[in-house]
Amino acid sequence: QHPGWPARLGPVMVAGGRVTLRPVRFRDAAAWSRIRLRDREHLERWEPTGRGSWEARNHASNWPSLWTSLKAEARRGAMIPLVIEVDGQFSGQLTIGNIVRGALRSGWIGYWVAKDLGGQGVATAALALGLDHCFGPVGLHRVEATVRPENHASQAVLRNVGFREEGLLRRYLDVDGAWRDHLLVGLTVEEVMGTVVDRLVREGRAALP
Ligand code: ACO
Repeated sequence: QHPGWPARLGPVMVAGGRVTLRPVRFRDAAAWSRIRLRDREHLERWEPTGRGSWEARNHASNWPSLWTSLKAEARRGAMIPLVIEVDGQFSGQLTIGNIVRGALRSGWIGYWVAKDLGGQGVATAALALGLDHCFGPVGLHRVEATVRPENHASQAVLRNVGFREEGLLRRYLDVDGAWRDHLLVGLTVEEVMGTVVDRLVREGRAALP
């Protein structure tokens, strides 16, 4: 096992409910697929282009192979693939990826949340829990994220938890069928006063139970 894996994080209370994070499970197939097929419009614009149709890629029968590769990366220490639960229900995913140790001690973070829970603080709370985990048990020094300039909601979430803008990556990632510019944002452990969850609580964005 690697530092910080497996992990159960939270809870944090926000308008949407009680937010917790836990490792992906084999039996998440039905919930994962149901939300992803229903919320295609909400998700597809912001996600890496995949092979085959959205329906095929997000069919429940595709989850076992995805789950297997996420778990393999986690066992290697390169990834922390978590499910976001709200009041105990599967509501999205938060993934820490490309974890590199040595003198870099860095990784990226990415997330999605079901459309019907939008604007209720769920992603902000999940990201705060994920970052505190990265800077605590995982032992990272820096976490980065990339976001399309058009993705205003995700940029708000990143700002809420303290990410700084570091630059524009041109034609960076194949997203929704084309090479898309992305803003690069970063955060290092020295910039976090206390914990990120504490910051949300202080700002009245979240509460502890
Ligand atoms: N323009 C500007 N701000 C907006 C907009 C908009 N159109 N819509 C929402 N917001 C703001 C809200 O006001 C709120 O900010 P505030 O708290 O400062 O007022 C913030 O965006 C949303 O915060 P949360 O409620 O915590 O976020 P939510 O749970 O709704 O999830 C998310 C946001 C993850 C972006 C969700 O909409 C989603 O899953 N989208 C599709 C997938 C996606 O874009 N994932 C992120 C890719 S980038 C990355 O992973 C680094």
